[in-house]
Amino acid sequence: MKFEGDIFEVIVELDGRKECRRIRSLLEKQVMLGDAATTSTSKKRYYSRYFSDEVSAKDYRLLLKLIAPPKIKISIKGLGVDKWRDKWKKEFRPFKLNDKFIVVPKWKRDKIVKKHGIAIFIDTCLAFGTGLHETTKFVAEMITSLEGKFESFLDIGTGTGILTIIADKCGANDLTAVDLTDDVLKVTRGNLDDNCVRKAKLIKGDMARISFRKEYDLVAANLTTEDLIGLKSRIISVVRKGGMLAVSGISLKKSRYFIERFRDPRLNKVKSLKGKEWAAFLFKRLA
Ligand SMILES: C[S@@+](CC[C@H](N)C(=O)[O-])C[C@H]1O[C@@H](n2cnc3c(N)ncnc32)[C@H](O)[C@@H]1O
Repeated sequence: MKFEGDIFEVIVELDGRKECRRIRSLLEKQVMLGDAATTSTSKKRYYSRYFSDEVSAKDYRLLLKLIAPPKIKISIKGLGVDKWRDKWKKEFRPFKLNDKFIVVPKWKRDKIVKKHGIAIFIDTCLAFGTGLHETTKFVAEMITSLEGKFESFLDIGTGTGILTIIADKCGANDLTAVDLTDDVLKVTRGNLDDNCVRKAKLIKGDMARISFRKEYDLVAANLTTEDLIGLKSRIISVVRKGGMLAVSGISLKKSRYFIERFRDPRLNKVKSLKGKEWAAFLFKRLA
C-alpha cells in the first residue's frame, strides 16, 4: 500500500496508560526512539513516530510488529508538512532542562520568562533532540558541569544541534557538529541561527568515515550502544589528551556490557549518570 504525504507517522494504538508505559519501555529496549509523541483520547493512547520517507516508516512498522504483542494495532498515516508541524506544536511545550537552561519551542519564544534560565530555542522538524529525552538531558548536564573548562567541542550525531547550542552558551568558541544527512543538518543550522550560534562548522557524513585534522577539548556522542562501541577508536581519537568525552544513548540493561566493551587504557571514567532506562558516562582521555 502506498501512503500520500510528505511525512509518515507510524502510530501504535494502546488501551491504557499502563500499557503505554510498558510498550514504550519495550520499544526503547529494542530501538533508539526519537522524541516520540504520545497523544490520548478518553479511551485510547497513541504513540507516534515520524519519518521523512515511506520506506523507513514501513521498516519501523515491521520492526514494531516483530516485537510488540500481536493485539497491538500499528498503522501508518501520511501527513502534509503543515499538518505534521501543527501536531508537534501542540505537544512540545517549554520545560526546564537543568539548573541553567530552559528549552523553548521556537514558536513560543515570545512567551518565555527569563528568570527560569537561559532559553534555548528549538524547532525539531525531523531531527532528534528536544532535550526531553533522558539521553540528551544527561549529556546536556555533563556539558553544563564543564562550563568554562573547554574551548573546542565536537558533537557527534548533532540532530537538532541542542548540545552544540549548550556548548556555545557554556563558553566554547570552536564548535563542530556532525550528522548523517542534509535534512537533519538543515534543522541544525536553523536552530543554531535561532540561538545566535554563528561560528559552528557542520559536517555531513558518517562518523565511521570522516577524517578529522584536529582533536577537541570536549566530545559528545549521543548514539546507540552498538554505534558507540563500533565507533570507539574513532571517537577516542578525536578527544585531545587531557580532554573529556561524554557518551550517551546506552540502555541501562546494556551499561555493564558497554563499559566492558568501551574499556580503553587511554580513558578514565569520571562520571556516570543513570536514569530509569538510560545511562551516560563521562570519560577523561589520559594519553
Ligand atoms: C540520538 S540522536 C542525538 C541528537 C542530539 N545530539 C541529542 O543528544 O539529542 C543521534 C543522532 O546521531 C546521528 N547519527 C547516527 N549515527 C551516526 C554516525 N555514524 N555518524 C554521524 N551521525 C550519526 C543520527 O542521525 C541522529 O541525528
